[in-house]
Amino acid sequence: MKPEIRPFLESDEAAVAALWRDVFPDAPLRNHPETDIERKLAVQRELFLVAVLGLEIVGTAMAGYDGHRGWVYYVAVGTAHRGRGTGTALMRGVEERLLELGCPKLNLQVRASNEGVVAFYEKIGYFVQDLTSMGKLLNGPDGGA
Ligand SMILES: CC(C)(COP(=O)(O)OP(=O)(O)OC[C@H]1O[C@@H](n2cnc3c(N)ncnc32)[C@H](O)[C@@H]1OP(=O)(O)O)[C@@H](O)C(=O)NCCC(=O)NCCS
Repeated sequence: MKPEIRPFLESDEAAVAALWRDVFPDAPLRNHPETDIERKLAVQRELFLVAVLGLEIVGTAMAGYDGHRGWVYYVAVGTAHRGRGTGTALMRGVEERLLELGCPKLNLQVRASNEGVVAFYEKIGYFVQDLTSMGKLLNGPDGGA
């Protein structure tokens, strides 16, 4: 059975937060699931997708379009559901929605500690770029996103 890919609903919050805590146990403390969900619901919430199998949330992808590029975060599939095309379906769902908005390119970042996942993205058409990723915590080291 293939999961349904649909936008996040408020009633998905507890299941999505539990999935992220399970899939990203080493996430920085500032990546607080409930806070990140609340922020996303205020900005392009239609680009926050979940994969649903029966009544269970089995995956997520949170995307945005800034007028130049699209970005995707929180690409996650529950461990028991991997290897069956759900990650690919979530990424295709994001790509289709970004294309509809006129977005020409989708970027993503992979933590150096998670380089194994690069093979997944390469299988679905992504390529590693010779770029240095930089960031700044706009609320200071304790409150940034
Ligand atoms: C990465 C992830 C979303 C993939 O989800 P998935 O549902 O298992 O992916 P798919 O079944 O669509 O896999 C598509 C292809 O990529 C391959 N693939 C998936 N994960 C892979 C990995 N970690 N390493 C190598 N290949 C991988 C699959 O074998 C499959 O290949 P095939 O088409 O030849 O069968 C899932 O493993 C996950 O949640 N990982 C932990 C969270 C994470 O690291 N997210 C990315 C943050 S940048």
